[in-house]
Amino acid sequence: MLLRSMFAANYRSLRSIRMDLAGVNVFIGENGVGKSNLYRALQLVQAAVRGNLAYEIAAEGGMASALWSGPRRDEKNFRIKLDVEVLDEERAATFRYRVEAGLRPPKAAAGFAFEPQIKAEELSVETGSRPVTMVKRMGPGIMVRGERGRMEEYPEQAMTSETAIALLGDAGHYPEVGAFRRMVEGWRFFHGVRTDRDSPLRRPCLAVTSPLLDQDGGNLAAVFATLVHTRQDTVDLGRAIAAAFGGAKLHVPEPGESAEFGLVFPDFPNRVFHPRELSDGQIRFLGLAAALMSYRQPPLIALNEPEASLHPDMLPPLADMIAEAARSSQIWIVTHSEQLASAVEERCGVRPKRVIRKDGATWIEGMRLTGFIEDDEN
Ligand SMILES: Nc1ncnc2c1ncn2[C@@H]1O[C@H](COP(=O)(O)OP(=O)(O)OP(=O)(O)O)[C@@H](O)[C@H]1O
Ligand SMILES: [Mg+2]
Repeated sequence: MLLRSMFAANYRSLRSIRMDLAGVNVFIGENGVGKSNLYRALQLVQAAVRGNLAYEIAAEGGMASALWSGPRRDEKNFRIKLDVEVLDEERAATFRYRVEAGLRPPKAAAGFAFEPQIKAEELSVETGSRPVTMVKRMGPGIMVRGERGRMEEYPEQAMTSETAIALLGDAGHYPEVGAFRRMVEGWRFFHGVRTDRDSPLRRPCLAVTSPLLDQDGGNLAAVFATLVHTRQDTVDLGRAIAAAFGGAKLHVPEPGESAEFGLVFPDFPNRVFHPRELSDGQIRFLGLAAALMSYRQPPLIALNEPEASLHPDMLPPLADMIAEAARSSQIWIVTHSEQLASAVEERCGVRPKRVIRKDGATWIEGMRLTGFIEDDEN
């Protein structure tokens, strides 16, 4: 799977921005330029597919907070617009999905006054020369391409807070919708993972085979146990940990009821240091290692400021892990570290995207209106 391009409009500082994406995407820029808004916009696409877009917007302060604050042409029809183009290599198909969320009409019947409304949605798929619409929603009505290849009215109406794509995906009758949903649901976002004393990364967890790291890092020990005891191939992981911690080794006992791990440092070869005893930077690096090297690789891994609390010496091993993960996952990284950006550039051959503000809106340096970055040409 490859997220080929993304468009966002009227969401926070994203006035209207379309950009092409590569296998590895590194976003760098000053505070407040909108790097996290771009990352969040992508998360909102996933929320739409899961059916909780309205909830997620409400949870971040509602439409009054989320809508672009600058001048608006048409106040009544002002909407957050999100749009993605996803290539499914297996099916040799390109999916396009767009969703629009707007305000409730002021005279609407009683209800949730601050809740955003899903106003429009469309999913199309292109396998040959022309895109074919699979789902189209205007207000509550949903049209969907049925088994006989004709657009039909879906018998249920969508609630204003509900996305059609989530409603239909559950029905299981529409393989293309299901395929698109599965790709987007697999995206993984890691940011603000706690490293304090009570961080989920430091807690023992239930010994359940864990091919992927949870977004709060709460199954870290199980992810390591899965790699060590199920896959029995931890060469890359071992190398990354040794490089980051001066020859340290990961210790993962055979899991019983709970999974556990520790680090053994060359200075104390007979002592295992438990997660509670590790520093913030150490535990964070281990969390990143699990996110990037888990048993199953997600189609897309997004990391927001992974370098936080890491010493510059840890950045080359982090870049090595990113480059390794990039062989099987698409990568989206937001960073303040020039050093990390250039280490990733060296390994993956991609220039960082420099995020800037133009008239209050988020933009990428050198990007044309079409989303094409001039540097990409050579
Ligand atoms: N509704 C809105 N309309 C316009 N701009 C907004 C809106 N909500 C937030 N912003 C702007 O978005 C910016 C914050 O964007 P974001 O959090 O993406 O920054 P960032 O690049 O991730 O910064 P940092 O590096 O500090 O994390 C702020 O400057 C804020 O003014
Ligand atoms: Mg940010």
